[in-house]
Amino acid sequence: RIGNIDSRGALVVLEGLDRCGKTSQCSRLLSYLEGLGHSVELWRFPDRTTSVGQMISAYLSNESHLDDHTIHLLFSANRWEKRSMMEAKLKAGTTLIVDRYSYSGVAFSSAKGIDIEWCKAPEIGLLAPDSVLYLDIPPEKAAERGGYGGERYEHLEFQRKVAQCYQMLRDSSWKIIDACQSIEDVEKQLKEIVLDQVTACKKGKPLSLLWS
Ligand code: TMP
Repeated sequence: RIGNIDSRGALVVLEGLDRCGKTSQCSRLLSYLEGLGHSVELWRFPDRTTSVGQMISAYLSNESHLDDHTIHLLFSANRWEKRSMMEAKLKAGTTLIVDRYSYSGVAFSSAKGIDIEWCKAPEIGLLAPDSVLYLDIPPEKAAERGGYGGERYEHLEFQRKVAQCYQMLRDSSWKIIDACQSIEDVEKQLKEIVLDQVTACKKGKPLSLLWS
């Protein structure tokens, strides 16, 4: 449908610890919505393709060292540089499934001891997700899955702190999914939630801004 200004795409964010299964669930959601004929794209943060993203990537792989506040602001800048494109896509009716967003930004930086309000400040004014899906897994369980790739944050001790910070960020609008279930069970729950959101947004649910 061309030119239907009332119908917009949904902004759906998946969050969770490293190895919680987010990335494979994002691809499954993408295929599912495509299969239903929806316009949908898979995005991820950090977006390592931009020049800011390359600085982030070098930091994560320990090729560079940056002050904790500096890297925090780069992660945020990486979202800001995609903001207008994000808004345009949503308004054109495309649903975005996003692998990590501002909540990762705040959880991972506050886990280092940076004040949470300071961490949230640069995110103010970014688009607020229609749905935050948190794939809940105990840090020990995630670590058992193996496959920590050796990036900077992929250590059990740090992931425990991140889990606590996510706890502080959570609000009643988040959908908490038990990520210890089978991939198929997680997928089934996510599909239902996401389809509801896509439908609500098509019907004209307004976009809002962080933090709301
Ligand atoms: P990835 O493994 O999903 O590509 O994410 C890379 C790491 O970056 C992951 O450990 C989470 C962390 N991260 C932040 O610290 N701040 C952020 O804003 C984002 C999006 C990710």
